[in-house]
Amino acid sequence: MRPPGSRGVPTACPTLLLLLLPLLVPLLGAPRGVGAGTGAPAELRVRVRLPDGQVTEESLQADSDADSISLELRKPDGTLVSFTADFKKDVKIFRALILGELEKGQSQFQALCFVTRLQHNEIIPSEAMAKLRQKNPRAVRQAEEVRGLEQLHMDVAVNFSQGGLLSPHLHNVCAEAVDAIYTRQEDVRFWLEQGVDSSVFEALPKASEQAELPRCRQGGDWGKPCVCHYGLSLAWYPCMLKYCHSRDRPAPYKCGIRSCQKSYSFNFYVPQRQLCLWDEDP
Ligand SMILES: *[C@@H]1O[C@H](CO)[C@@H](O)[C@H](O)[C@H]1NC(C)=O
Repeated sequence: MRPPGSRGVPTACPTLLLLLLPLLVPLLGAPRGVGAGTGAPAELRVRVRLPDGQVTEESLQADSDADSISLELRKPDGTLVSFTADFKKDVKIFRALILGELEKGQSQFQALCFVTRLQHNEIIPSEAMAKLRQKNPRAVRQAEEVRGLEQLHMDVAVNFSQGGLLSPHLHNVCAEAVDAIYTRQEDVRFWLEQGVDSSVFEALPKASEQAELPRCRQGGDWGKPCVCHYGLSLAWYPCMLKYCHSRDRPAPYKCGIRSCQKSYSFNFYVPQRQLCLWDEDP
């Protein structure tokens, strides 16, 4: 509820994104140590519109010392989705904390972690993220660009106790998902080349064998293995830096961001269908 007499705040107006620009310009050029940031992660809270039209709050944190970014948002059904980009290790971690339906006898929540290779140019650098500010925190932001749905077949498990060898963030982020941390063979190949120890990874039934397993949503025995599906979206994140030209400057300079939205669809093996309760045909 708005206090009486306050002026209405326009929502979902694309030009609001431009408000990031005037502040971003000086801050991007500011020397280190000026302002808030001396080691502590910088946080930006934005209101965002989800793909289904509902509005939620999203928190974006950047730690330029650790060279990482994390994003967190709560879906209307209560699920907490988080995304961590570890630029030092070329790792990104998606985590979902899915609330159980207690009246159906399900546990309080179930956690899933999906770990894949972080490509360059997926998201802006952490030092730029740490300097982002907004003038109007109540504006509802909608991404300028909707990136295509990415389908990922997660066919390798990550051993939680060894996970620190892959990324120091894994122990914090995936602590509730110890038995449900997944990655992909193609990402494993890349990390092994980078020198990551092979003890981090554990075989799951191969994609070809998984193809023969039933989809969990098709029903069947609660105790039998199946291929589970989980989808999530990053509703709004700064995916690119914008550069401007000026007569006063010899080279283009950073003057803002482009925002993106992206959805991910994960398929993964579960040893028992009861670990995939949300995946039902409507
Ligand atoms: C994870 O790795 C540790 C250390 O190598 C090992 O002792 C443990 O058995 C592994 N866990 C699983 C579930 O394989």
